[in-house]
Parts: sequence; C-alpha cells; structure tokens
Amino acid sequence: MTVATQPQETIAAHGGTLITRLATVAQKREFLEQADRLPRVTMDDRTFSDLALIAIGGFSPLTGFMEEADYRRVVKEMRLANGLPWSVPITLSVSEEVANSLKEGDRIRLDDKTGRFVGVLDLSQKYHYDKEEEALQVYRTTEDKHPGVAVVYQQGPVNLAGSVWMLERDPHPLFPDYQIDPAVSRQMFVDKGWKTVVGFQTRNPIHRAHEYIQKCALETVDGLFLHPLVGATKSDDIPADVRMRCYEIMLDKYFPRDRVMMAINPAAMRYAGPREAIFHALVRKNYGCTHFIVGRDHAGVGDYYGTYDAQDIFDEFEPGELGITPMKFEHAFYCTRTSTMATSKTSPSTPEERIHLSGTKVREMLRRGELPPPEFSRPEVAAELAKAMHE
Ligand code: ADX
Repeated sequence: MTVATQPQETIAAHGGTLITRLATVAQKREFLEQADRLPRVTMDDRTFSDLALIAIGGFSPLTGFMEEADYRRVVKEMRLANGLPWSVPITLSVSEEVANSLKEGDRIRLDDKTGRFVGVLDLSQKYHYDKEEEALQVYRTTEDKHPGVAVVYQQGPVNLAGSVWMLERDPHPLFPDYQIDPAVSRQMFVDKGWKTVVGFQTRNPIHRAHEYIQKCALETVDGLFLHPLVGATKSDDIPADVRMRCYEIMLDKYFPRDRVMMAINPAAMRYAGPREAIFHALVRKNYGCTHFIVGRDHAGVGDYYGTYDAQDIFDEFEPGELGITPMKFEHAFYCTRTSTMATSKTSPSTPEERIHLSGTKVREMLRRGELPPPEFSRPEVAAELAKAMHE
C-alpha cells in the first residue's frame, strides 16, 4: 500500500490569500493603449515601493491604496475596517489641484518619479485626512524632526484610494538576484522543507548583536530569512548596496548557507518604531515567515520610543491574531567577562564589561579612519564599511 504524502503548506498570507496585482499581458496591453488618455499622478519613491509591495502581495490583503474607512481605523485602532490587524496607513496623497482634476471612477495612470508609466489606480475615493492625527497615532509624535512625520507633513492633503495594477515587475537595478517576491519565497521555503522560518528586518550594516540574535532565533526554527530593507531610508543611514555587500561577506564566512536565505525588502523605512514592528511582521508573514525577530528599539529613531515599545505592542493583539510569532530579544552586547555575545538575561556582566556601539558612534569612528572593534563588528564587515566610507 502506498501512502500519499501531504504537500507541505505554507502559512496563510495575511487575510488568507496572497494578493497579486501584477497586470497580465492582456491587461498591460489595455493599459498601454489607454496611457495617453489617462490623467496622470507621479509617485515619490516611497509610494512607488508601496505600489510594488501591493502588487507582489507583500501587503496582502491590500489590493490598493487605502479607502477612508480602512485609513481611519488603521490610524486609530491598528485595524482595517474589517477588523484585520494592520498598523500603518498605505496611502497615495496628492495636492488639492490634482485631486480636483480627478473624479471617482477615473482610471489614473501612475508614473514613477522619472515619469515612467508603472501602474494604474482605479480611483474609488478621494478624501481629506488629518496629518497631525496620523503623526500622533502612528508615530507617537507630531514633531516634524521625526523623519516619518516629516514625510507625512510634506504629503498632499488629499488621499486617492482604490485598487491598483502594476504594469511590470522589473528586476531590481542593484540586487536582481535577491529580488525574491512572496510567491517565490513561500515556494522556496517549502522546497527547502522549512516548516518554521524566522524573518529578520534590517536597515543597518550587520553587526555582531544582529548576528547573535539571528543565530539564537535560528537555533529554534528551521530557517532564517534575512530581509534587508532596500527602499528609501533617511540620508544618514548607510546605503543599501554597502549593507548588502556586508551581508554577502557574512553569508560566505559566518552562516550555514543551507539554513539561511537572503532577499531584499523593497519597502521604504517609516521609522514608526512599534507600529512599524507590527507592519514589518505582517509583511514577513506574507513572504511566508512563521516567526519574526524584534530586538531592541526596532525601527526606532532618536528618542521617540522606549527600548522595548516595539515588543510590547505585540501584546495589544489577541494571541494568534497576527498569524506570525514575534521573537523578542533584549539588547545584545559583547560581554568581556564571559567572552561571548549575550544580553542581560544571560550575562552576569556589569555595564563596564559590555561592548556595544551605537550606529552614530560607528559612523564617527569610520569617519576618523578607525575600525570598530571585533567585539562589535566582524573584521571583514568593518573593513568593508571603512572602504565604503572613502569611496
Ligand atoms: S531597524 O530599524 O531595521 O530595526 P536595525 O537594522 O539596526 O534597525 O535592526 C534590525 C533588528 O535588530 C531589529 O529587530 C532591532 O531591534 C534588532 N537589533 C539591533 N541592534 C540590536 C542589539 N544590540 N540588541 C538586540 N537587538 C538589536
């Protein structure tokens, strides 16, 4: 007797179905024929990233830019209008003049900032919104010094909502080999036989605390999905190409290649701390992860959030509601007493016996021509950062 083996299932996408809003060949032909007659809206980099993430299913269950009911409930309660958890508004904002020139029911041509026709929006709604309210609820501050809040304040006053289609999924200009979209990453996890996969968000060059928490997490799951964010970041963050080179160096020498997969996350950083941690987790769920690492001051900036606010916010949801399990890590450092990486949970050290450097401090050292110490950064990564500093 033969026993049929069950095909391995991936975890469900957020909302149950992995969305795809990439135009079919026939749709694309139709959109291209219409292109010259359609009213046109030009997107900034962040909105273009959002369009791409909607199209590839990274933002499932979203099929477009948020309508007012979703927007309001997301801002106030971290939920879509249907109750599903969602923590960050996904919107397309325009000026009054542009909004006045459009009417609900219009199909709109979406261009990227270079004027290239990249998608369409079927406009179902346009609505005004309260920027200060969005800033306060989502970013926990109304200060325009906060880089995420500054973006909200620079946006137009009217949101355009409706379903979108993206014309084409172009290879990433810098990292084509690492452009692995959710449908593919999900299949790859199945092919590798990984039932549990932990996702790692990052916007900084890899240091030893990152490596430590990644490996601690990997001890308890089947695979590690390194998912560096390569969309827009603030100007003093290290550029994505440098960060990716550092990761390649680490993967070659310090990681077991059969347990680790790296792909790029095309999203822009919002620096929304706790709210962004939930958002980051849901996006990684859509890529097929079952677990998600949330360390110290996740997606934070300045002093706007408490060190562990981005962990505590997960407790505001019912167990199982998010459909992905956070793996929370305390602040990791090198402990000189035990000569290992550790956290205060595992190390008996006094503060003087702990080596950890802030990103700002590392940048200052590199500018002075000094390399961060091996307790902070693997020497090969330190050398790569130093080289990039002087390019
Ligand atoms: S983030 O904006 O993407 O969160 P970063 O790339 O520095 O910034 O962090 C990636 C992940 O590693 C986040 O979950 C963050 O909380 C965690 N992390 C960074 N440094 C440490 C550290 N020293 N100890 C524990 N977790 C850390």
